[in-house]
Amino acid sequence: GPEAAQLVASRILDVPDFPKPGVLFKDLMPLFADGVAFREVIDGIIAFHGPESFDVVAGIEARGFVLAAAVAYATGVGVVPVRKAGKLPRATHSASYALEYGEATLEVHQDAFTAGHRVLVLDDVLATGGTAEATLDLVERAGGTVSGFTVLLELGFLKGRERLAPRPVHALLTV
Ligand code: PRP
Ligand code: MG
Repeated sequence: GPEAAQLVASRILDVPDFPKPGVLFKDLMPLFADGVAFREVIDGIIAFHGPESFDVVAGIEARGFVLAAAVAYATGVGVVPVRKAGKLPRATHSASYALEYGEATLEVHQDAFTAGHRVLVLDDVLATGGTAEATLDLVERAGGTVSGFTVLLELGFLKGRERLAPRPVHALLTV
């Protein structure tokens, strides 16, 4: 709701030219570091989807891990990491997506999900949607069913939501 959006909006720091010239980086660390605000956004994510609507939570490396662990602990479910290439020790599914320059790859363990389990996917920011699209694809290839996808911040002008359509995106704040 509007309170969650305000909470996020007031705790983002805009960092110009990071990680490269011309990019305005949205730093959500102040939100993560504020215990009251962090609990508020975690509770807001759980309330939006409903605590019975998912069987497991998936977090996207790296900042999605923080959100996923908190939601998982609060609801008593497990957490599965979706990682950058080369980090997971056993057999994986992998999905690549284009970056502004080059390509990135995400991976998940092939046995990460019990077949049919409903998976709530979490990340900090939705920008172009490449990261999210790869992740949602990986979850389904690994046997999960995506039950929801939440980000704290959506950069609307990059049209990630359109890229993911018809899958719904829940963003606490869209700018
Ligand atoms: C950032 C952000 C999202 C992703 C969104 O992660 O945390 O995961 O970019 O961008 P997209 O919608 O255009 O794919 P980044 O790849 O910088 O890695 P990090 O989370 O490990 O820092
Ligand atoms: Mg990320």
